[in-house]
Amino acid sequence: MHSLRMDVECVKRFFIILVTAGLLTGCSSRQPAPGSQDKTVPGFGLEGKLDPADWAEFFPREYQTYLLNLEGGSDHSTFRGSDAFDRNSAWPFQWVLFDGWGMGKEYVESRGHTYSLIDQLKIDPARRAAGGVCLTCKTPYVPELMEQMGIGYFSLPYDEVYAQIPENYNKLGVSCIDCHDGNTGELRLSRWTITEALAGLDGVPEQFNKKQLSMLTCAQCHVTYSIPKDEDNNSVDLIFPWHRAAWDNITIEAIEQQIKEDGLYEWTHAVTGIKLGHIRHPEFELFTNNSFHYNIGLSCSDCHMPEVTIDGEKTRSHQWTSPFKQGLESCSSCHGQSRQELKDRVISIQQDINKLFTEAGFKAAQAAKAIEFANNTPKADEALLSEAKEAYEKAYYRITFIGAENSMGFHNPTEARRVLNDGLRFAATAEDRAREAVIAAGVTPPAVFDLELEKYPYNPEENRAYNFQEQ
Ligand code: HEC
Ligand code: HEC
Ligand code: HEC
Ligand code: HEC
Repeated sequence: MHSLRMDVECVKRFFIILVTAGLLTGCSSRQPAPGSQDKTVPGFGLEGKLDPADWAEFFPREYQTYLLNLEGGSDHSTFRGSDAFDRNSAWPFQWVLFDGWGMGKEYVESRGHTYSLIDQLKIDPARRAAGGVCLTCKTPYVPELMEQMGIGYFSLPYDEVYAQIPENYNKLGVSCIDCHDGNTGELRLSRWTITEALAGLDGVPEQFNKKQLSMLTCAQCHVTYSIPKDEDNNSVDLIFPWHRAAWDNITIEAIEQQIKEDGLYEWTHAVTGIKLGHIRHPEFELFTNNSFHYNIGLSCSDCHMPEVTIDGEKTRSHQWTSPFKQGLESCSSCHGQSRQELKDRVISIQQDINKLFTEAGFKAAQAAKAIEFANNTPKADEALLSEAKEAYEKAYYRITFIGAENSMGFHNPTEARRVLNDGLRFAATAEDRAREAVIAAGVTPPAVFDLELEKYPYNPEENRAYNFQEQ
């Protein structure tokens, strides 16, 4: 298993100095060196140190790259980037699909890890309505909250739980302690959510190798999750809906099955009145389901934490961002073509997925409007309408699975296409059944439904949808 190497002598001196003089003076070399497996050597003493600045003492180079997460910028990327832009206006059908809950009020592109909590404080309060549970992925203080308050913190108002975070920690985003042990420096999982989810997943390896563990540190957050609700719509838990799935094969079908069987419904769609679950950023699920890069043994960090040289020393970059922003450095060991050629290839894959995503998304929006129309048509055929609603739910999960995933399909183009094609098909079925339900009542529906985008804070300048003619 992977371990951080530390300078044994330096660490010994560190402790002697600490004990004898109560002072902390500089070690000549604070860089990790071989020896961390030696359990007789005291550890780094960073357990409970949530602030990455405290870790800089031992790991100045990793910390230096970590600070680069503060950089913004979106020019490097066609569909994502590191500035907060309005993702509903970028794909305007999402205004219709998300109407009725937080996502439909505001859905912004994420920035770097250092902003995870800061950005959450800035968003529309409607997005935090689920309560303290929202903090689970955003602050390194969450394991402490869990210890102090238990799962009671999930359902308390967000602001009340946020107020429990000590001031010196209450702006911190993703931190060293989220992925590393504070004593040994080794990679470790800090969130009970992933441990519980793995326990419910079929075929999980008994021991994780270095690559798997590295990837699972990301899977603590870059996964879809569900927030089970009680009768009063209070959030009572946070789970990864993997209980019908298997390792290397977490499909949207298995997730959907669990949402339905376990009743993981979180909101009611304002346009159609349908109760729905939701799919959030399934990077881990999409990538590990038979993608070519996963199949040849890559993990997230191979592409997102390229090796960089700082002060003459090789370091894994801790700037987690689009590989485009890092000049595709991490790809060059395998891909011989020029960086520009490789970038063009990635973008062409993304454009292809974007086209399908947009087509399926607009189709689902048409379906939603058709169902709304049928709901408002007296004597619309009940059976057909309920078939329409069933198909809409299926379309919604599939389209959102790829839309919420952050690589615009690049992490697994084959699976992205499969899921979107199904999404498009279900959306078309939903629209057809809803139209038939209306026609059965002797009413002629319009040829194309108006999406009424003017009802929403739609900003056409953000539009990144494929230039797709509706109908
Ligand atoms: C999101 C998870 C995550 C966070 C947060 C994180 N690391 Fe890491 N770190 C990793 C992973 C994964 C690797 C191993 C990469 C590999 O070898 O595949 C790693 C490797 C390292 C290494 C050893 C390898 C090297 O060449 O750099 C050190 C030292 C390290 N991290 C220190 C830190 C420090 C200090 C912080 C906080 C400023 C930090 N890490 C934050 C995931 C994380
Ligand atoms: C504790 C939760 C957490 C962990 C662990 C985590 N991430 Fe993130 N990640 C986030 C959040 C939250 C954001 C969005 C930040 C925001 O809202 O501004 C994000 C954003 C990103 C981005 C996009 C940043 C940008 O510039 O747009 C990348 C790339 C990324 N993470 C990769 C990784 C990788 C690779 C790992 C594992 C080594 C990892 N993350 C582990 C929570 C996490
Ligand atoms: C083969 C290399 C590769 C692997 C492996 C990989 N990614 Fe990516 N990732 C990319 C590329 C390329 C993009 C697209 C960047 C863009 O569009 O700007 C991307 C995009 C992302 C983004 C959005 C970045 C942004 O700018 O908003 C996140 C988040 C992310 N990946 C997380 C992960 C996680 C988590 C894993 C592991 C489960 C992973 N990636 C595995 C190459 C990779
Ligand atoms: C460990 C080696 C390795 C690394 C690192 C790697 N790749 Fe790949 N990549 C491959 C292999 C092998 C294939 C499959 C080639 C095939 O099947 O034709 C592939 C396929 C691809 C394809 C699809 C080719 C096509 O034309 O359909 C693209 C695009 C791609 N990689 C981009 C990237 C990018 C971007 C990165 C870095 C962010 C990256 N790769 C990192 C080995 C790697």
